[in-house]
Amino acid sequence: MSAGTTGTTGGGQRRLPSEDELDRMSQEELAQLAAELDDVEIVHLGRKFPIPGTRAEKRAERAVALWFILSALSALAFVVAFIAWPHEYRAPGEAGYTMYSLYTPVVGATFGFAVLALGIGVIAYVKKFFPDEVSVQQRHDGPSDELARRTVLAQLAEAGNETGIARRSLIKRSAGAAAGLFGLGLGVAALAPLVRNPWKGGDEAALWVTGWRAEPGETVYLRRDTGVLGEIARVRPEDMEPGSMETVFPFRESERGHDEELLHAQRASDNPVMLIRLRPGTKVVKRAGQEDFNYGDYYAFSKICTHLGCPTSLYQAQDNRILCPCHQSQFLATEYARPVFGPATRALPQLPITVDAEGYFVARSDFIEAVGPAFWERRP
Ligand code: FES
Repeated sequence: MSAGTTGTTGGGQRRLPSEDELDRMSQEELAQLAAELDDVEIVHLGRKFPIPGTRAEKRAERAVALWFILSALSALAFVVAFIAWPHEYRAPGEAGYTMYSLYTPVVGATFGFAVLALGIGVIAYVKKFFPDEVSVQQRHDGPSDELARRTVLAQLAEAGNETGIARRSLIKRSAGAAAGLFGLGLGVAALAPLVRNPWKGGDEAALWVTGWRAEPGETVYLRRDTGVLGEIARVRPEDMEPGSMETVFPFRESERGHDEELLHAQRASDNPVMLIRLRPGTKVVKRAGQEDFNYGDYYAFSKICTHLGCPTSLYQAQDNRILCPCHQSQFLATEYARPVFGPATRALPQLPITVDAEGYFVARSDFIEAVGPAFWERRP
């Protein structure tokens, strides 16, 4: 590049340095040039610590470093807690419940404090070490030219130099540790779901099994939630009007009198089922291989939306559509709950049901496909 000229707002022309001249310029001179090219006039520049190494400067340095160190420690605690804190579900009263119940607060608090302390450290550094500067810049239009682009980085670096960052090793090290550990924490949080093996357990893995799975000789009933803990209300066909819907949960006699187990059956995310009674004479299309999953006009579908897992809590009897309120997916109850609108792409799994000798609805088996949103490596 040869030397040239550039316009200024004052109407005069400034001689531009050649490439050789640019190469010979120090960082400070480049930064100065950048200011001139931008028509910036520095009216006042007051360094916070004009004499390096004073006790006041060291005190300020320690104060800033303290925040970075706290952030680093908190980020480290987050990583350790995220990996090692007991997070497997424990019911109240069970051994380990207190530690389990503290998992989310501990992970949240350590992560939150790491972010907070990092932010405070940066703000404290700017306030304590950046020089007090008053500058005036003339406004000009259009994009920056190449010279401006080449000098702007030098200008930023020079701004850093003004704060004396090069000789503040304590701050550099603590800020580096805080940023590094914080990044590590983010990385661990992002990668952890990929490390845990959802297939652990084979056919018994949680992805395949719901609370509707019966042990040999066990009967799993359809039970409604009355809102009263411990009250058992099994569902019979005559309990429902044509064109109505009921949310039901699995119940086995072994759970009677055990509030924790009953509560768990209601709270397990893949257990809720919509039991729908169609109006008599409604035309129905059944899915191949699932022709006998219904009991007369009664059809049971998983309530967990196959888009992102919200509860599809709404049933529109006029057109037999099941609606998910989250992203408006709609499923046709008369056609094996296949999606007919919205982002869901898979039918709601159907639970095979019948009625036992006492006249109560029972599940004939667990779902024959995975419940909830699609996931990688789904089995056909
Ligand atoms: S979760 Fe149901 S539509 Fe998105």
